[in-house]
Amino acid sequence: MNITVISSSTRKARRSHRVALAVVRQINALGHQASIVDLIELDLPPFVERYGKIDDATGQLAHAANTMRNSDGIIFLTPEYNGSMSSGLKNFIDVFAKDAFDGKPIGVATVSVGAAGGIRAAYQLQQTILSVLAYPIPRMLTVGNVEKVIDESGQVTSHKFQTKLDEFLGSYLSFVSKF
Ligand SMILES: Cc1cc2nc3c(=O)[nH]c(=O)nc-3n(C[C@H](O)[C@H](O)[C@H](O)COP(=O)(O)O)c2cc1C
Repeated sequence: MNITVISSSTRKARRSHRVALAVVRQINALGHQASIVDLIELDLPPFVERYGKIDDATGQLAHAANTMRNSDGIIFLTPEYNGSMSSGLKNFIDVFAKDAFDGKPIGVATVSVGAAGGIRAAYQLQQTILSVLAYPIPRMLTVGNVEKVIDESGQVTSHKFQTKLDEFLGSYLSFVSKF
């Protein structure tokens, strides 16, 4: 299967991107293909129009759309900012909604430096995914204390977290395979 991870922190000193790297490593290790659409590289301006209505969409934007269309599933990864998803991810969803990820099975992964792992953002994100007629899986990946469980290269450093990641990806890939 082909899975795309949307990594949505655009801070230079971001920590949540570690989760994108770890998820991609693990999916590849399981014999599937995974890639990242990184919102730092996409450099998407604040919402102007839906993707389908942009006549001259080229470059990174078209690449992101095609990558998602060709994916069996997508994982939205976001840090929790003020109790919600990153504004970059919301902007991205508004642009590509009901188009590139229409009807796709979507995993929710959230991050915070504290113990709660961005659970408030996770629940909001599930609701948003339903609003754009895609399919969030019930099991979410909430990653607390992210620096203690994944290193900068995406290597998992905590046995407990590895189990949590395995459980999430097991559920997610099984969900995707049923589509
Ligand atoms: C604007 C902003 C808002 C934040 N709001 C929350 C929050 O509501 N809950 C929380 O647990 N952490 C919050 N944090 C801390 C983040 O969990 C922490 O900075 C995390 O590293 C963010 O992910 P990133 O490094 O990938 O951007 C906030 C951080 C920022 C920069």
